[in-house]
Amino acid sequence: PAPGPLAGRHVVITSGPTHEPIDPVRYIANRSSGKQGHAIAAALAALGARVTLVSGPVTVPDPKGITTVHVETARQMLAAVEAALPADAAVMAAAVADWRVAAEGAEKIKKDGSGRPPALALTENPDILATVGHLGDRRPRLVVGFAAETENLIANAQAKLARKGADWIVANDVSPETGVMGGDANTVRIVSAAGVEDWPTLDKGEVARRLAARIAAALA
Ligand code: C5P
Repeated sequence: PAPGPLAGRHVVITSGPTHEPIDPVRYIANRSSGKQGHAIAAALAALGARVTLVSGPVTVPDPKGITTVHVETARQMLAAVEAALPADAAVMAAAVADWRVAAEGAEKIKKDGSGRPPALALTENPDILATVGHLGDRRPRLVVGFAAETENLIANAQAKLARKGADWIVANDVSPETGVMGGDANTVRIVSAAGVEDWPTLDKGEVARRLAARIAAALA
């Protein structure tokens, strides 16, 4: 790790989507490029932190100088995060699929000629942020979550803060007209017990650097 204000600190980050298999060739997923989460990982490392990045399937490259653990499903992501603890801070930026198929097919599901599509029974995935936020003595001192919303941004973020046991929620509007999804810019608000902080529209790299600096100040 580089020298810097986060030297000696360990931060765990999740990034990217998860893929939840339906059968050997199909999956359910969320839209997520991993750009913002990976940029946060790189920015924290640049401030001297030891970083464990747990990434779902993405096309962005592994950041240099960071341990990247590649996973596919939400359950694998949770297991990798738990294995990476203890940590001083956790930043849960992944777009985790809320549901998975209850009984993954061992064989490719075939059209049966009846014209009736198969019914997929879903079951809820573990909530990684809520799990980490509610850990007892293994809870990182600072737990940061994200809220990507298309409506009621602040109210949803405040509800998430409480429900998931997070210290901060980075809230962003991902309505299609904003271009945030897959794009290079982001407009976020930091929601915490202290209130709501509005940030201007910034490059995702700059959002990452500001967030890393804020994390360093909180852990100092
Ligand atoms: O509830 P929602 O998915 O909108 O919450 C978003 C926040 O919760 C993000 O920080 C995301 O990484 C995290 N999350 C998680 N595990 C889930 C669902 C969401 O860690 N199963």
